[in-house]
Amino acid sequence: MSLLIDGIGELFSADDEGTIHYDAAIVVEDGRIAWVGHRLNRPAADEYFDAGDKAMIPGFVDSHAHLVFAGDRSGEFAARMAGEPYTGGGIRTTVAATRAASDARLRETCARLTTEMLRQGTTTVEVKSGYGLTVDDEARSLRIAGEFTTETTYLGAHTVPEGADGALTDADEYTALAAGPMLEACAPHAKWADVFCERGAFDGDQARAVLTASAAAGLGLRVHANQLTAGPGVQLAVELGAASADHCTHLTDSDVDALAGGDTVATLLPGAEFSTRSPYPDARRLLDAGVRVALATDCNPGSSYTSSMAFCIALAVREMRMTPDEALEAATAAGADALRRKDIGRIEVGARADLVLLDAPSYVHLAYRPGTPLIDTVFRAGTAVS
Ligand code: NIG
Ligand code: FE
Repeated sequence: MSLLIDGIGELFSADDEGTIHYDAAIVVEDGRIAWVGHRLNRPAADEYFDAGDKAMIPGFVDSHAHLVFAGDRSGEFAARMAGEPYTGGGIRTTVAATRAASDARLRETCARLTTEMLRQGTTTVEVKSGYGLTVDDEARSLRIAGEFTTETTYLGAHTVPEGADGALTDADEYTALAAGPMLEACAPHAKWADVFCERGAFDGDQARAVLTASAAAGLGLRVHANQLTAGPGVQLAVELGAASADHCTHLTDSDVDALAGGDTVATLLPGAEFSTRSPYPDARRLLDAGVRVALATDCNPGSSYTSSMAFCIALAVREMRMTPDEALEAATAAGADALRRKDIGRIEVGARADLVLLDAPSYVHLAYRPGTPLIDTVFRAGTAVS
């Protein structure tokens, strides 16, 4: 079964050359892109779709999201907007609500958010655990995440939870659990492991313990690094060959050098700075140093409750001095690189036909018309799904 998508006014391919085609067409065969080129050269196909001269982009790859949770923290957001700082301490509020929630409730939230994302053009999303923080609650979070995506991440080391008596658990004891029995229960349901390496969460040694054990268990690595303070997270991520160091808000020159010299993508999450009213990461500094930069939503109930990649693109362009094409590449091909995937996030022969038709003549409108619903049609593996 083949499909010809004809009449694409502007096609942002996000391929390695950054090709933009005009008056283009695409042929999809068995869910993959079989042909891309000028519409005058288009081959015949079984079915036809008229793109009406609009712009087409790859489906967004949201490589960082926390979607398995319960409860509401809008009050915390309101307090921040009235001047309270963000510390990450609110994670425990969500942990309590998540533990108390039924599987069905968690599944419902995950379904609602992934559907919301798909409608906004996100065709791949990574989903982390991290609001269970017991062996059973982390494992069930990952089982539920796995119903919605293959990109599942074990984040048992999100914060040190309170014990049954309400007292704080010893951080080293909890680290041993997260690197031991909890990892063992979670690894079969996870592709990746992540650690919140931050003052008040896990220090460099504790993060290293969880990450090396996770790698030994066959998981790929990612790190919440340098979000609130400059710390060891970024350099640890690069040293351990993590696919991505996420946040990268507070970086020293040697952090930037490490990223530039390594194979770790810097994933920036401007929704978090927006929602915590914090300074944005310096994307320009990273790009100018030759670092591969991705953008993701960090969708979570505490620090960034947005599911919109277009919003992140708009923030990156307006507030982080990324050009519209750099921001879109970061939200597509570089997001795929942050998941070590070459089959998504770009429009080229052989890639999965994850395509988004915009109700706009150019991809630039994503940043130029912020907050405006611009998604016309979303194709996943060649099928119109939204
Ligand atoms: O990516 N930084 C740690 N984790 C999340 C926040 C989680 C929360 O506040 O609930 C983040 O920002
Ligand atoms: Fe996060």
